Amino acid sequence: MERPIDLRSDTVTTPTEAMRRAMAAAEVGDDVYQEDPTVRRLEAMAAEKMGKEAGLFVPSGTMGNAVAVMTHTRRGDEVILEAESHIYYYEVAGIAVLSGALPRTVPGVRGAITPELLESALRGPNIHYPPTTLLCMENTHNRAGGAVIPLETMRATSDLAHRRGLAVHLDGARIFNAAIALGVPAAAIAATADSVMFCLSKGLGAPVGSVLTGTRAFIERARKNRKMLGGGMRQAGVIAAAGIVALETMVDRLQEDHENARYLAENLAEIPGLVVDPATVQTNMVMCDVVKPGLSAEELSRRLRERQVLVNANGPSRLRFVTHKDVSRADIARALEIIKDVMV
Ligand SMILES: Cc1ncc(COP(=O)(O)O)c(C=O)c1O
Repeated sequence: MERPIDLRSDTVTTPTEAMRRAMAAAEVGDDVYQEDPTVRRLEAMAAEKMGKEAGLFVPSGTMGNAVAVMTHTRRGDEVILEAESHIYYYEVAGIAVLSGALPRTVPGVRGAITPELLESALRGPNIHYPPTTLLCMENTHNRAGGAVIPLETMRATSDLAHRRGLAVHLDGARIFNAAIALGVPAAAIAATADSVMFCLSKGLGAPVGSVLTGTRAFIERARKNRKMLGGGMRQAGVIAAAGIVALETMVDRLQEDHENARYLAENLAEIPGLVVDPATVQTNMVMCDVVKPGLSAEELSRRLRERQVLVNANGPSRLRFVTHKDVSRADIARALEIIKDVMV
């Protein structure tokens, strides 16, 4: 059986040989006692890359975001998020259940909350209103098709939030994709937020883990919340070791994923029955609308799966393709041939 070409997500990436070697050799200790030297090294590296004082290794991006929101807010606070943001859309209402916060969603411009949009969402003090204490941003923006939020927009929106007394959290699951697309260091993007979560287990290829970064005081409080959620891991250096290799060796190659996404988009756009705007492809995702009468995205995904091409439906008539280190240019060319065939 041929190996499937898996374009569902960059979360399907598998660890490199160098990661596996580092994991096998990792020096470990009990990280709840903060005695795991490998975890500490990863946290320090992550903090340095984000230009923050400290980092906290967490098992997933979802937990990193949950811990961040819990740490920034009190029960009954209002949190402003983009309407299609991952925290709001895909994190099982953790914001409500775990933080007891009221999400206030703002439909953005390709994932971006502009200062004007934030301004119109902010309410003044009033006996009827909850305190609004946190703004969450996302870059790159998943449901906006890997869209890159311009740095200027992030700065201006974040400045306004700060002037109004809100803290700012960045869901930077794919911050390195954004950094490469913008041609700036990740720290420049991270500088627009008080706390930043980024993932090691997406395009960077580590098997497990994300890091939450922020001030030392914030991370100390976040550590307690992580423990409450059951995220205090013991000899976690075994997995953190792969994260270190990811940060050292896997960031620059993301450019290749972006080029492959563009190649995929340009060629999908040529296939009758599919609509793609290559101009919207900024990083490693391609949103593709299925416009063939009687063919849903779900059905097309099912037919492609039979031919060993895996892709997720992202709406009734929308497919989302994600490029990553485990699909080569040749794999994408083969996938395109199969898609053409299935669309006839
Ligand atoms: C933007 C964004 N934030 C957070 C997450 C959550 O990460 P995890 O799957 O590690 O919980 C994802 C996962 O796809 C994501 O795309």
